[in-house]
Amino acid sequence: MPRHDPADYLDMAALPRLLDALVTQGWFVGERFIDTALCHSLQAELQGLKAQSHLDEAGVGRGQTHRIKRDVRGDAIHWLDRESRAQRQYLTVMTFLQQAINRTLYLGLFEFEAHFALYPPGAFYKRHLDSFRGRSNRIVSTVLYLNPAWTAAHGGEMAMFDPDDPEREIARIRPELGTFVCFLADRIPHEVLPTQAPRASIAGWFRRNTSLNGIVDPAL
Ligand code: OGA
Ligand code: MN
Repeated sequence: MPRHDPADYLDMAALPRLLDALVTQGWFVGERFIDTALCHSLQAELQGLKAQSHLDEAGVGRGQTHRIKRDVRGDAIHWLDRESRAQRQYLTVMTFLQQAINRTLYLGLFEFEAHFALYPPGAFYKRHLDSFRGRSNRIVSTVLYLNPAWTAAHGGEMAMFDPDDPEREIARIRPELGTFVCFLADRIPHEVLPTQAPRASIAGWFRRNTSLNGIVDPAL
């Protein structure tokens, strides 16, 4: 029996904790937060995209300032385009989450954009913010991890840092299948530590509007 309610695809019991954590500390991590079968479908789709050379090297900055910078980030990406059932399901779940966040936090989010990301062995993403205060329309960042049986030896953790003391690490997250992270895009510095194995994820952003003062997203 196919299920149609987005609430069937996320950990509803953890949702109040997510909302509370976003307000009180600016970030949330939930293990097995997204339905396991859906994560496996998304992981299989990402493998297929790689096999068909449908991944592009990720860059830094937008428009004229977009550059490939291997010394900053080493992932290859594919923007979600609703092409598969799994993508549509995930986007429906994110829309559901957006409504819950809006009801609670009044952030006025009205759009979600996301891309698959694959980090080959040796790749990393240096410490950064996903947006700069007043300059960006990315309000809340999300990451869903798609790696079954990830061990400490695989590395590739996401480290988050204290907004008021960016040298102080506040969390280190293993990119295990089903783990979901969200955080305030202009508050939480974070990085991807070098991975020892191919590392699959979907990075996404809830946005407020498509451009602000003619500036569409900041350069890094
Ligand atoms: C990003 C990012 C973190 C991760 O894509 O901006 O920070 O753990 N990703 O993949
Ligand atoms: Mn980021």
